[in-house]
Amino acid sequence: MMKAIFTSLSLVAAASARTITVYNACPFTIWPALFTSAGGRPSQPTGWSAGSFTKVTFSVPDQWNGRIWGRRNCNFSSNPGPNSCLDGGCNGGLLCDPNTGTGVPPASLAEFNLNAGGVDYYDVSLVDGYNLPMRIDNTAGCPVGSCGVDLGPNCPSELKGPFDSTGFPVGCKSACLVDAQNGRAGDSPNCCSGSHNTPATCPSSGVSHYDYFHNNCPTAYAYAYDDKNALFTCPASKAATYTVTFCP
Ligand SMILES: *[C@@H]1O[C@H](CO)[C@@H](O)[C@H](O)[C@H]1NC(C)=O
Repeated sequence: MMKAIFTSLSLVAAASARTITVYNACPFTIWPALFTSAGGRPSQPTGWSAGSFTKVTFSVPDQWNGRIWGRRNCNFSSNPGPNSCLDGGCNGGLLCDPNTGTGVPPASLAEFNLNAGGVDYYDVSLVDGYNLPMRIDNTAGCPVGSCGVDLGPNCPSELKGPFDSTGFPVGCKSACLVDAQNGRAGDSPNCCSGSHNTPATCPSSGVSHYDYFHNNCPTAYAYAYDDKNALFTCPASKAATYTVTFCP
């Protein structure tokens, strides 16, 4: 009997929400998006327009597992879908499809896996390329994940782009993304796939242009097995609230 009571109490505790703020510090409008992998849906829509220097705060389930990214140069008035933005666009248009709307790379990602066995995991990932600087802050004194540098202008030429109408690069692809676009993602040292699918067989030294991403953004994932540099944790008991800042 007591066991049953404690079980239901812990279920109540596990259902409490967390708070995430998304702040657009870029001097231009972006269209943030979020995708839920597991743990229930946030209170915020899956996509919205964010004018420069505006923020929104919303709640996510205590065990939310998902990602937040930004979309650039969007126009949803015709053919709303993945090509409505120069990068980061998703199936659905302004509102990303909750099942398939993960975003078109290159796109910098803020990834969260909250209260996974008592631990929050979070990171900034450039594994799918870069499209905006971003930082993840928290209120619990836990580490900060960040890529605060605009990686577009100095991006290696074979990775540079896409470009806006003035020719300015609004992204920098990862070498894995270029492999994927050329049908080579199945067995790639850049993607840690196929015969390279373990940390031992996919060293960072085998990833093209790893140093460009890692040296500019040492606390962001520059390739799939960058956990030691970029995967951060915070005790779930601290119930941290997180802020994702674009162009920090
Ligand atoms: C958005 O696209 C529509 C249809 O192609 C076009 O008429 C409109 O001018 C575009 N808006 C902007 C702000 O570029």
